Amino acid sequence: MHPEVKLARQSTINIVLNEEKNKSVIGREKRVESHSAAPFQRIDQYFSKVIGLEDLKKQIKEIYAQVLVSEKRQELGLKSNLQVLHMIFKGNPGTGKTTIARMVSELFKEVGVLEKGHFTEVDRSDLVGEYIGHTAKKTKDVIRKALGGVLFIDEAYSLARGGEKDFGKEAIDTIVKCMEDHHDELIIILAGYPEEMDHFLTINPGLASRFPIQLDFSNYEAVELLKIAKVMLEDREYCMTKETERRLYLHLYRMSMRPGANFSNARYVRNLLEEAIRKHAWRIICGSNLKKAALMTLEPDDFSECLHQDNS
Ligand SMILES: Nc1ncnc2c1ncn2[C@@H]1O[C@H](COP(=O)(O)OP(=O)(O)O)[C@@H](O)[C@H]1O
Ligand SMILES: [Mg+2]
Repeated sequence: MHPEVKLARQSTINIVLNEEKNKSVIGREKRVESHSAAPFQRIDQYFSKVIGLEDLKKQIKEIYAQVLVSEKRQELGLKSNLQVLHMIFKGNPGTGKTTIARMVSELFKEVGVLEKGHFTEVDRSDLVGEYIGHTAKKTKDVIRKALGGVLFIDEAYSLARGGEKDFGKEAIDTIVKCMEDHHDELIIILAGYPEEMDHFLTINPGLASRFPIQLDFSNYEAVELLKIAKVMLEDREYCMTKETERRLYLHLYRMSMRPGANFSNARYVRNLLEEAIRKHAWRIICGSNLKKAALMTLEPDDFSECLHQDNS
C-alpha cells in the first residue's frame, strides 16, 4: 500500500494548506486541521519555489514520514522511533543552505517536531569568547535562546581553527554537551563549504554520528539558475523579455562553467536582479512609458555590462 494512504492523518498533526498564490518562499500561511491522505503534498507545496535540490526534498520527506510514523506508533502504545534530527549542510555560498534551514525550522514547527520553530543563525564570533570560561558561557547562552527551534551555525568548520588551544574547541565541546542535555529540544544545523566541513568532521570524529543527517548542496547549473531568477522576479512581480532571458541564460552558463570561479550561485543571481531592478527604475523614470507592462519588464539594457559582453 502507498505510504500516503496508510498514514492518513487522524487529527493529531496540523497540515498547512497554502491558500494564497504568489507568496514569498518563507511566507506565513494559514494553519488548518487536516485529515488529508497526502501528507507529502504539503512538503511539495512548501518547497514549490525551491528550484532543484531534489535529493534534499526527498530526505525532508523521509524525515517527515518518520515523524508521522513515530506519532502513530505512540498513539498505539509503541515506542517513538524518532531519531535525532541534527544536520550538516555542505555547500558553496549561495546554494540555499540558510534558506532551507529557515524553511526546515518553520516546517518542523508545523508538524510538531519543534515547539517554537524560531531560527537562530550564529557564527564563530557569537560562540567563541576571549578568555577561559567565556566561550562556554557564550555558547550556552546561544543554545538556551535557541531551545525549541533551529540553531544554525554558519561556517561551523571555523570552530576548529587554531587547533586544540583555540577557544573554538571549547565551543564544540559545549555544543556536544548541550546536545546531550537538551537532546530533543532543538535541532542544530552545522553549515559550511564542503571541503572545510569534511575536514572539520575528520578532526572531530565524534561529531559525525551526532549529526546523522548530512545534506549536500551542489552548485546550480545554468538552467536551474535561470529558473531561480524567474522565481525571484515573479515574487517581486517583474518579468523578462525573451531576449533578456536568452542573454541571462548565456551569462549564467558561462559563469557556472568557469573553472575554480568564486561564483556565489543563487546569491549571484539575486544581486544581478537587484541591480537590474534599480537600473530599470532609472530607465522608467527617465522615459515616459509608465504602463503596467513597462513597470514590470526587464530589458537586456537594465543589466550591467556583463550581460552584453557574453552576447558575442
Ligand atoms: N534552490 C533555490 N531555489 C530558489 N531560490 C534559491 C535556491 N537556493 C538559493 N536561493 C536563493 O538564493 C539566495 C541565497 O541563498 P542562501 O540560502 O543565502 O545561500 P547560502 O546560505 O548557501 O549561502 C537566497 O535569496 C535564496 O532564497
Ligand atoms: Mg548562508
